[in-house]
Amino acid sequence: MGRLIIVSNRVAPISEGGPAAGGLAVGVYDALKETGGVWFGWSGDVLTVPPEAIKLEEQGPVTFATIGLVRRDYDQYYRGFSNATLWPAFHYRPDLIEFDRDEYDGYCRVNRWLAAQLAPLLRPDDVIWVHDYHLIPFAQALRELGVKNRIGFFLHIPFPASQILLSVPRHRELVEALCAFDLLGFQTEPDLHAFCDYVETEAGGTLTRHAAKPVEVRAFGKTLKAAAYPIGVYPDEVRALAKDGESGRDVQTVKATLHQRKLVMSVDRLDYSKGLVERFRAFERLMEHDPQQRNNVSFLQIAPPTRSDVDAYRDIRLQLEAESGRINGRYAELDWTPIRYIHRQYERPVLAALFREAHVGFVTPLRDGMNLVAKEYVSAQDPDDPGVLVLSQFAGAARELKAALIVNPLDIDGMAEALATALAMPLDERRARHREMYALLRDNNVSVWRDNFLRDLKAR
Ligand code: G6P
Repeated sequence: MGRLIIVSNRVAPISEGGPAAGGLAVGVYDALKETGGVWFGWSGDVLTVPPEAIKLEEQGPVTFATIGLVRRDYDQYYRGFSNATLWPAFHYRPDLIEFDRDEYDGYCRVNRWLAAQLAPLLRPDDVIWVHDYHLIPFAQALRELGVKNRIGFFLHIPFPASQILLSVPRHRELVEALCAFDLLGFQTEPDLHAFCDYVETEAGGTLTRHAAKPVEVRAFGKTLKAAAYPIGVYPDEVRALAKDGESGRDVQTVKATLHQRKLVMSVDRLDYSKGLVERFRAFERLMEHDPQQRNNVSFLQIAPPTRSDVDAYRDIRLQLEAESGRINGRYAELDWTPIRYIHRQYERPVLAALFREAHVGFVTPLRDGMNLVAKEYVSAQDPDDPGVLVLSQFAGAARELKAALIVNPLDIDGMAEALATALAMPLDERRARHREMYALLRDNNVSVWRDNFLRDLKAR
């Protein structure tokens, strides 16, 4: 049987239990541990001279094949076109799009270069599964090298509505490149519809829809399939991890410093798509409207640094520091800091254990492909005394986690009300909501995601 070859820009930390590096690394690693295979991607190193060869490291059934990028490639492909052009566009922020032709050329060049590095490692029956927006031209590049294997693509972030995608110069070339894959996977139905709409209205392509099967797409002289495959977690594993961590030092420290106060918690990379400023303001609004909450609840926001060399990320960091300082200045007391904002990365087991302690998981992105933090928060709860998830309607996860308190992240009063509701929710209701969500997470765990995608990729 052929091997599974995963290709992504970011590869999970090679040592298990390492710091969480975003949804892709977490989800894909969980999926690959069971099947085994090769994971090819950037090593995370920025080099002064071109790398000589791919580095291979075995870790159980997974072979990590990684390679460094020289500074110019990093700047143009990763920092530039991927994260200053595609990321804001795909997260519905055309106002933040920066476009530079050299960066786009660098993005395509690095995709061709990475494909040429991988090609000699491939065997004819390998199945290749490419992940995320950094690698849209990857199948086209492999095909140019004569690779005939099945190649699938999964987009971890939203696919924007056509009118937004049109604001990305070269959008047509990008969609044409996507059509070189055999199967495209999106997180949700609206993402799939957005792609299909572009194909029909902008690219003159045609679609054939079959019940319970991927859509057949014909465009740019190619025929391919496309469907939604919402990524999941392993809820039982997360629950066990959270339970094991209960007596750990970090959890005990948080508990001791809370002094019986309730805990609202969030974990997000410090990204403008996460709605952090609005979330801080909603917590402030809760203090403002409901003085009884003051000194009775603390909000812990863990926001690890990310892409700090992109201007928009520097801006959001400054804004967030200003807001947390202002709100704490306004409400803090001698023995209580309302917002604990931590700009640092924690390991996954620590986060799972902290989720279990938190009375409210406050997950309110302005746009998010899925948001695995929401799913991990639910998984980590004690089923006998679970916390409440307050979730943005704009996270992919909201389409499944309907038993969460769903909010619009731009409605600050609405979010403050949802927080108050969550903090006061009776045990019966918390249990019922949690039970419903946990069962769903189990039914659609990360194996289901992987197996459904690979089944459709292999089907002729
Ligand atoms: C999101 C993206 C991933 C990315 C992760 C971390 O989850 O979908 O592709 O790896 O963020 O971002 P970074 O830029 O550090 O890889």
